[in-house]
Amino acid sequence: MKVEALPVTKGNYNLEDYQQTYHNFDWAEVEKSFSFAETGRVNVAYEAIDRHALTHRKNKVALYYRDPERDEKYTFKEMKEMSNKAGNILRQTCDVEKGDRVFIFMPRSPELYFAALGAIKLGAIVGPLFEAFMEGAVKDRLEDSEAKVIVTTPELFKRIPFDSLPALKHVVLVGENVKEEGPFIDFNGRMKDASKKLQIEWVDKTDGLVLHYTSGSTGKPKGVLHVHNAMVQHYQTAKWVLDLKEEDVYWCTADPGWVTGTAYGIFGPWLAGASNVIVGGRFRPEAWYQTIEDFGVSVWYSAPTAFRMLMGAGDEVVKKYDLSSLRHILSVGEPLNPEVIRWGVKVFNLRVHDTWWMTETGAQLICNYPCMEIKPGSMGKPIPGVEAAIVDDQGNELPPYRMGNLAIKKGWPSMMHTIWNNKEKYESYFMPGDWYVSGDSAYMDEEGYFWFQGRIDDVIMTSGERVGPFEVESKLVEHPAVAEAGVIGKPDPVRGEIIKAFVALRDGHEATDELKEEIRQFVKRGLAAHAAPREIEFRDKLPKTRSGKIMRRVLKAWELDLPTGDLSTMED
Ligand code: WTA
Repeated sequence: MKVEALPVTKGNYNLEDYQQTYHNFDWAEVEKSFSFAETGRVNVAYEAIDRHALTHRKNKVALYYRDPERDEKYTFKEMKEMSNKAGNILRQTCDVEKGDRVFIFMPRSPELYFAALGAIKLGAIVGPLFEAFMEGAVKDRLEDSEAKVIVTTPELFKRIPFDSLPALKHVVLVGENVKEEGPFIDFNGRMKDASKKLQIEWVDKTDGLVLHYTSGSTGKPKGVLHVHNAMVQHYQTAKWVLDLKEEDVYWCTADPGWVTGTAYGIFGPWLAGASNVIVGGRFRPEAWYQTIEDFGVSVWYSAPTAFRMLMGAGDEVVKKYDLSSLRHILSVGEPLNPEVIRWGVKVFNLRVHDTWWMTETGAQLICNYPCMEIKPGSMGKPIPGVEAAIVDDQGNELPPYRMGNLAIKKGWPSMMHTIWNNKEKYESYFMPGDWYVSGDSAYMDEEGYFWFQGRIDDVIMTSGERVGPFEVESKLVEHPAVAEAGVIGKPDPVRGEIIKAFVALRDGHEATDELKEEIRQFVKRGLAAHAAPREIEFRDKLPKTRSGKIMRRVLKAWELDLPTGDLSTMED
């Protein structure tokens, strides 16, 4: 198969330099950029913020923040001081110590970043939660992680079942006129007088840093723990893949509730000393282009869903803005359609660079970096220091063009440290030969480019969000009218996939459109808007195995008019 490769379009990149690096690369060399190579003690928040505040970068803008109500900026020196203050509040009022879980449940705002960095400076493990989560989703995560502190807003606190979470001791509220009583602490009030000086907790590189809950095909969401050592890869990929240079203004559109919003919304860019743009509020094409124009964004990291929505808004909108500052665009989260890449070249005169990685991998692994020729539709090649292969179910490597499990050889710096409270689950990711198995199926071409084919499990990717069908099904069957539910991802041109639920009703309930809407709202209130099925179909009975497991594969075949495959395990 011959695929036309897109050449490098802008910038002065030397492919040979990269290839040189590729062959001689050693992660241990990267560690030497940081003092912990010598001392053995580290703190990412120090490396990302404080270190720059001691150099010529101290008055450089670290954070440009904007939402419909606020427009602010903070230099590295100010970020250091603000995160120190936040750290002092957490230490003095909540006794936060190394290893404690501090969860953050709030919309994007500068305070979110002060609190996260402050907690990290104390050696705590930060658990960021999407503001869209409803009570059930919040409870599962706080319960499993035994979080000691939650930083939230008075509004969102209503979704935290404080009394049924015995480990949760303190609630730090970010808002106006917060009364300090019981577990409540007034963040903004205390920030005014908190000391700008903080004793940093130095930790080992294998000590916990962030805990991201993510969905699999079975069971509740699992807590993926990353440790300080991940910074080695965050830093290096920020240089190679994001291609961040001293003068860049960088914008990552992801929320910190998603791993992209921490690895490349906090650590990568700040470790590299870049100015980081963070925008709150909802997606609107005009506002996005305005952001690029106003801040002079040069490097932009987003997701296929967002690009497809921008593409859908039309090329006329683009022309209203001066986007000449842009020089490098990247994408992550789902397959990047060749059409989006062609659109990017047309409207920005730039290629969109696809990157592949997962919550569990902690950082980018397979990428299109600037000096590479891009084959639209391919995720690119493994970055230097990473070995990827397509393997069969026994861990044997397959030749080019054979589809199989996308696997990575263990040993890259940002690999998850464990799954919280679930060592067995952690171990289930690995195969003989030290392969980490991603759960994605893919093939490799003869030039070493990887091509994504799909998920091997039933995990749904909707608008770049990873949703476990089991979690949605569990919520559905909590509704009094629902007897059984099976959930699948249905291909969708804009969202990648949408969630479709097949529902069998309990006796005495009528299959009406009102009921569909009620069930939808029920899931939305219980989990999150993005987890609510966009489509619901009532069925008398759902296909199940003899052991009673819903056969999502059969539901999918029904939906897409595909052959149902082997039905020998299906109940009569
Ligand atoms: C999918 C995202 C195709 C994949 C940082 C993976 C992709 C899952 C790509 C991880 C890509 C991510 N092309 N598929 N470039 N990037 N995926 O944990 O199925 O939310 O396993 O992390 O997203 O999703 P997660």
